[in-house]
Amino acid sequence: TVTVTAPTIQAMKGGEKICCMTAYDYSSGMIADKAGVDLVLVGDSLAMVVLGHEDTLSVTVDEMVHHTRATSRGVKRALVVADLPFMSFATVELALKNSGRLIAEGHAKAVKLEGGVPVAPQIKAMTDAGIPVMAHVGLTPQHVARFGGFKAQGKSAEATRALIEDAQAVEAAGAFCVVLEAIPVESAQLITESVSIPTIGIGAGNVTDGQVLVYHDVLGMFDRFTPKFVRRFAELGEEAVTALERYCDDVRRTTFPGDKNTFYMPDDQLAQVRK
Ligand code: KIV
Ligand code: NA
Repeated sequence: TVTVTAPTIQAMKGGEKICCMTAYDYSSGMIADKAGVDLVLVGDSLAMVVLGHEDTLSVTVDEMVHHTRATSRGVKRALVVADLPFMSFATVELALKNSGRLIAEGHAKAVKLEGGVPVAPQIKAMTDAGIPVMAHVGLTPQHVARFGGFKAQGKSAEATRALIEDAQAVEAAGAFCVVLEAIPVESAQLITESVSIPTIGIGAGNVTDGQVLVYHDVLGMFDRFTPKFVRRFAELGEEAVTALERYCDDVRRTTFPGDKNTFYMPDDQLAQVRK
C-alpha cells in the first residue's frame, strides 16, 4: 500500500472526498486504517471521549504524545495527524517545541492546531521547520469558554467574512488543509471556494473537500451527548454492554470457560500426579 502524505491530501482539493476519522490508540488506529480512512487524527477530543473530561482543555502534551505513539503503531496507510492541546502553541517557541514532540516522540506525520489569523505565525514557523500543519477554524473547542458553550459559529455575514480571512491566513502561512467545524453550509461553501487547500468539514455540510468525525461518535460509543452533525453508523456501546452481560451470565452459570477454553494435562501425567 502507498502511504498517504500531507501533499497527497493537499492534492485531493476538489477531487475525491477526503475521509478523515479520529483515533486514540493502536486498536482504533488500526480499525480506521483498515476501513480505508485517508487521515487519522489523534484529536484532543481524546480528553472527552477517552479520558472523560468535560471539555478538551485539560489534556496535556504528554498525554497526546502517549496516545499518538500508540495510534501510529496501528496505522499503516493513512496520514497520522496529532492535535496540539490548549495553550501548547501559545507562542511560536511553544508551538515548535510541542509539535516537534508530537512528531519525534509520537511519530505523527503532521500536526493540527486551532485558530486562524492569530496563529498564522506559529503555522509559518512550523511549516518552515518541516512540519505539515492542519488548521482548524469555526467552532474551535479550545475556545469553548469564550464562545459560552459548543455553539455553531459563522452564522452572520460578518462572522463568515472573518472565517474566510482565517482560512486564507492559514493557507498563506503554509497549512496543507483546514478543518471547518460547526458552521453553516453556505459559509463552508464560500470558504472552500476562497482557498486552494482542502477544507475538511465537521458540521459544515457536504460542500467541503472532506469530512471528519470522532471515532466514538460514529461507532455509538460516547453517550454524554451527540452533536447534530454526527451520524452514528453503529451502536457498539450497546453491543459491548450486551456482550459483557452475556459474559457475566456465563461466568455465574459456570458455562464459561468451556472445554475449548480449558487446558488439560496429558493422561500419563495425570495418572502419576494422582498416585
Ligand atoms: O479533536 C478532535 O476530534 C477534532 C476533530 C473533530 C476535528 O479536532
Ligand atoms: Na481537536
